[in-house]
Amino acid sequence: MAIILGIETSCDETSAAVLKGDELLSNVISSQIDIHRRFGGVVPEIASRNHLTAIVPVIDEALSRAGIEKRELDAIAVTYGAGLVGALLVGVSAAKALAYSLGVPLYAVNHIEAHIAANYISTPQLKPPFLAVVASGGHTGVARIDGLNSFTMIASTTDDAIGEAFDKVARTVGLPYPGGPEIDRLAKTGKRSIAFIDRNGKKRKNGELSYSGLKTAVINYMHNLEQRGETPVVPDICASFQAEAVDMLVDCAMHTAERSGIKTVVAAGGVSANSYLREKLNAECEKRGLEVHFPPMSLCTDNAAMVAVRARGMMQENVPPASLDLNAVSYLKIPTASD
Ligand code: KG4
Ligand code: ZN
Repeated sequence: MAIILGIETSCDETSAAVLKGDELLSNVISSQIDIHRRFGGVVPEIASRNHLTAIVPVIDEALSRAGIEKRELDAIAVTYGAGLVGALLVGVSAAKALAYSLGVPLYAVNHIEAHIAANYISTPQLKPPFLAVVASGGHTGVARIDGLNSFTMIASTTDDAIGEAFDKVARTVGLPYPGGPEIDRLAKTGKRSIAFIDRNGKKRKNGELSYSGLKTAVINYMHNLEQRGETPVVPDICASFQAEAVDMLVDCAMHTAERSGIKTVVAAGGVSANSYLREKLNAECEKRGLEVHFPPMSLCTDNAAMVAVRARGMMQENVPPASLDLNAVSYLKIPTASD
């Protein structure tokens, strides 16, 4: 049974995990959220510096919690994109050094594929084909998974990602970074009373996915209140924005599911921790007799367990490992059928 060390440093979490076959032995996450909060978002240079100081202790902690010695490792897996290049490079360099010194293969992992693969840990019986509702800070859409190493994007946002919209709206209404969890929390005490996008009574187009207009509508709404000297009811703004953002993604997922005939749906990425998204996706899948799975909270946001399990899939189907001149890439997506 292969023992894999996963490493993740694409944004503001430094993480290392040890996976032995089906068993997750450790998943250590050192978050920089408190450091970036006072800047209202992730500062790339500060993220890289903090990854540098955290990476060795985090790897050591993951090995020690797993009760595994470095020499027992069979492979090293690392996120090489998408993300902040300076941040990714810290993980990539550490992974290359370990792979070289231990003489084991190095697997280069796509961050979004890893978010999807996280579901194999929480739902070990999960088998392709299935659809993944991808909802993260940088990517949003619906992917089709036809095999351990077959990922195709079938619907994507035409502009912003859903997490980006959550964070921007949160900032506009005065909530701290990261805004997604704050909106989730406040929305529970608010009412869905504001229609930010006026569609003249018409319904959203089937499969439509776009967040820039919704984000701007909330910003304009806040400006108008300010000009009139009125006080915003922040929980209602959160509840209304969240419902509109999530409904659009869930509708797109259901439209895609109906067209593809695939009966299993999973959620992936940081925004899949959102309580309304979980509730809504569950309810819509249940109505249609679709099976649905969500990773637990600890596997929704960035973590290295998902990187290790993605590499396990590569090893199972003999996908060639990366060479030691692997580099970090900021822009990396899941291809569409026409790519
Ligand atoms: O997947 P992720 O950890 O990092 C990227 O790959 O981008 O996603 C981060 C995003 C952030 O925008 C954060 O605000 C959002 O996930 N997020 C949430 C919740 N928890 C994290 N958004 C809405 N509700 C949540 N509970
Ligand atoms: Zn992520």
